[in-house]
Amino acid sequence: MSTYTEDLRAVTTQRLIEMKQRGEKIAMLTAYDYSMASIIDKAGMDVILVGDSASNVMAGNSTTLPVTLDQMIWYTQAVRKAVKRALVVADLPFGSYQGNSKEAVHSAIRMMKETGCDAIKIEGGLEIKESIQRILSAGIPIMGHLGLTPQSINKFGTYAVRAREAEEAEKLLEDAQLLNDLGCFGIVLEKIPADLAKRVTEQVHIPTIGIGAGRHTDGQVLVMHDMLGINTEFSPRFLRRYAELHDEIKNSVAHYIKDVKNCDFPNEKESY
Ligand code: KIV
Repeated sequence: MSTYTEDLRAVTTQRLIEMKQRGEKIAMLTAYDYSMASIIDKAGMDVILVGDSASNVMAGNSTTLPVTLDQMIWYTQAVRKAVKRALVVADLPFGSYQGNSKEAVHSAIRMMKETGCDAIKIEGGLEIKESIQRILSAGIPIMGHLGLTPQSINKFGTYAVRAREAEEAEKLLEDAQLLNDLGCFGIVLEKIPADLAKRVTEQVHIPTIGIGAGRHTDGQVLVMHDMLGINTEFSPRFLRRYAELHDEIKNSVAHYIKDVKNCDFPNEKESY
């Protein structure tokens, strides 16, 4: 299977909501560059997320915090140029929207204007209510993100599963309802118990997209480098690897080095 769908119509936020309504699962994957985004789009992905996980997998940082708005704009511009069908969602990075709602709308407008992406994603619920309202009133679609929100890792102190306790689960249900009522078009639910993700999914009208949130969400998202086995240092229980590209690439590169050293490459046919 090299392409999942023959349907070449562009995916919109409205179509995602319709997919939830008819029970069709939504597939979402991250991308950060033109070449990979082009392949992922051609395979039939519904949503391509230019995640701030770029900070980890592209820039080698241990958290998502260091990546800047300018850098996220640069990654998103590259992805946008490649994608014809999928909905392109870009993360607003840490520090670009938490300060106040004016800064938040300014960052969101820059992201939309300078990249041509379709929507932005931000982390949090009630704490960022005013920013969500202002961004939405500027006509910018928002995907929310609840549960394990990596931009708050220093507050949590751990990447463990969130909302196992009743109080935090209750707050998450309230936040999800708030994002729904404010007019967000979807919510990423990261690393929360499957039962809680099911309750959220049944409660809200907008699609939920899970990562480590079990099978009952309306869709799933993974980080491309993890699911393709490029990054082998990260193997949480929720991750399914669909390829082992780390080994494949390493072997290919070692083969090329051998051919160069042995004067096997280039041969006559490869020369002018
Ligand atoms: O940045 C990212 O890749 C994300 C996904 C893990 C949802 O936010």
